[in-house]
Amino acid sequence: MSTAPAAAPLAAHRRPLVVGNWKMNGSAAANEVLLAALKSAQYGEVEVSVCVPALYLHDVSKALHGSAIHWGAQDCSSHDAGAFTGEISAGMLAEFGCCHVIVGHSERRAMHGEADRLVAEKAAAALRHGLVPIVCVGETLAEREAGRTEAIVGRQLAAVTELLGNRIDGVVVAYEPVWAIGTGKTASPEQAQSVHAFLRATLERAGAASGSLRILYGGSVKADNAALLFAQPDIDGGLIGGASLKAAEFIAICSAAG
Ligand code: PGA
Repeated sequence: MSTAPAAAPLAAHRRPLVVGNWKMNGSAAANEVLLAALKSAQYGEVEVSVCVPALYLHDVSKALHGSAIHWGAQDCSSHDAGAFTGEISAGMLAEFGCCHVIVGHSERRAMHGEADRLVAEKAAAALRHGLVPIVCVGETLAEREAGRTEAIVGRQLAAVTELLGNRIDGVVVAYEPVWAIGTGKTASPEQAQSVHAFLRATLERAGAASGSLRILYGGSVKADNAALLFAQPDIDGGLIGGASLKAAEFIAICSAAG
């Protein structure tokens, strides 16, 4: 008889989720080809979503309507409306049928100066409009080498749990070590699992319902490393950048999560 802790019943609540983050890639023609290929695959119990550049949401919503694939955006404003030139509100994303919105991606934290509190406010805005925010956290290489990984991701997450309180159950968290994004360097399954376990314990201490909150891993996930990462007990799927632009690769990653 197995002496493993009672992980199985909890895992049943955590449906695997694989999200493509197209970043600033695509074109009307290329998207059509990619989405047609994605729609032709079967995903079983795996929930699949693509977070696309906002300008394409209209086309993507038409292409994916009635399919098993959800869609979403890569950022939203923390405000609902007003004088915020260039911004897009969560309410607008909801009008286009978005299910998810990524907030606090490391590229936005680094290149657009997004601080922890703003990321938390964006997550709150998303929840107000019925979207699921995918809150990204992750440390840089220097922070990892200084032994500060848990301090950094803990601080990033604390801003969100403090603002959201018991609404925290409505989010998905993505652990994306900055040094693994787009670099071809993936965290080892053990490195990723250890941070995921820390994040889950932190979330549960902050009031998240035990066993239901999903934590995705992101950073150079490919078809050939996905299965080992997704086999870790606290990794519930992936946030996929570069590999989400290649249909066969993305579909293979999705099946590795099932
Ligand atoms: P990558 O990006 O898969 O290209 O490393 C992941 C992400 O930035 O979400």
